[in-house]
Amino acid sequence: PVYRATTTAPVNIAVIKYWGKRDTTLNLPTNSSLSVTLSQRSLRTLTTASCSPSYPAEDTLNLNGKPQEIQSSKRTLACLSNLRALRKSLEDADSSLPKLSTFHLRIVSENNFPTAAGLASSAAGFAALVRAVADLYQLPQSPQELSRIARQGSGSACRSLMGGYVAWRSGELADGSDSLAEEVAPASHWPEMRALVLVVSAEKKDVPSTEGMQTTVATSELFAQRVSSVVPERMTAIEDAIRVRDFPKFAEITMRDSNTFHATCLDSWPPIFYMNDVSRAAVRLVHDINRAVGRTVAAYTYDAGPNSVIYYEEKDSELVAGTVKAILGTNITGWDGPFYEPLANLT
Ligand code: DP6
Repeated sequence: PVYRATTTAPVNIAVIKYWGKRDTTLNLPTNSSLSVTLSQRSLRTLTTASCSPSYPAEDTLNLNGKPQEIQSSKRTLACLSNLRALRKSLEDADSSLPKLSTFHLRIVSENNFPTAAGLASSAAGFAALVRAVADLYQLPQSPQELSRIARQGSGSACRSLMGGYVAWRSGELADGSDSLAEEVAPASHWPEMRALVLVVSAEKKDVPSTEGMQTTVATSELFAQRVSSVVPERMTAIEDAIRVRDFPKFAEITMRDSNTFHATCLDSWPPIFYMNDVSRAAVRLVHDINRAVGRTVAAYTYDAGPNSVIYYEEKDSELVAGTVKAILGTNITGWDGPFYEPLANLT
């Protein structure tokens, strides 16, 4: 027999950024972070996990049609061995269960967006991998418990196992058992929230985030302050803003945290640049729109790449998405589109 499970996982975009590890083996962060999970209609990873006694030799992983070197990926191996151990304990407790933990796995994964272009593909990818194998193994663990495993694949992946507004609590314990994702509010709490993803460049990013954050931790003088006081204060403030659906406050914290994160990149030695001229044009445009309207209707944020994500509320669609598309879509060179449609959050 072949046992099989298929699942999808969404992309999440952080508004308080994860940047820095306190433990690179367990993938534990230096600070807590918070993200918004985007709709799977536009951006998602689709993954099928299967296993069979007839599968030969070793576990395999295929991403967007290309076989991946799974044996050299410590992160993938860590996720799979954690999941296998959970399955094994189910089998030990109930001898009537098929011994799936002893079969080789075949994992086939596909993104509907450019991989490694700063569009959080590793987040959706590892979340989908963990979810698919957990489903295949019929594991009883909650999304929060699975977030501990996904985190070891890619930090940001732990936030893609839940919808809505998700915090990744950095935790304090050395074994990482308290470094977990937690839902702050479901998407339905703020149904007006929208995100527009502007693909400034679909090319692979310059400095992979894992490497970039290590450089920042080791060399940036601004970084210590970000971790000790800036982020903890912003986490509390943005959770309050989400609770009362205060868009201007949510927006200001989001933009400031993106800017602080990129400032620590610039403060790294040698400096790291993720945003480009088009990214900066979008930043100026958002500030121009907010100033012209006389209230904060839009917020930008940038991950480890030049693409913008712009948050706004449905009632301001024309104003924000309309203006951004009209101005940046036609007037900026170096733009290689396409725009993704505005996304409703995931429920
Ligand atoms: C800028 O989760 O890709 O997107 O744990 O090394 O895989 P690893 O890093 P990753 O870093 C994401 C960094 C970020 C901010 C964020 O998503 O919080």
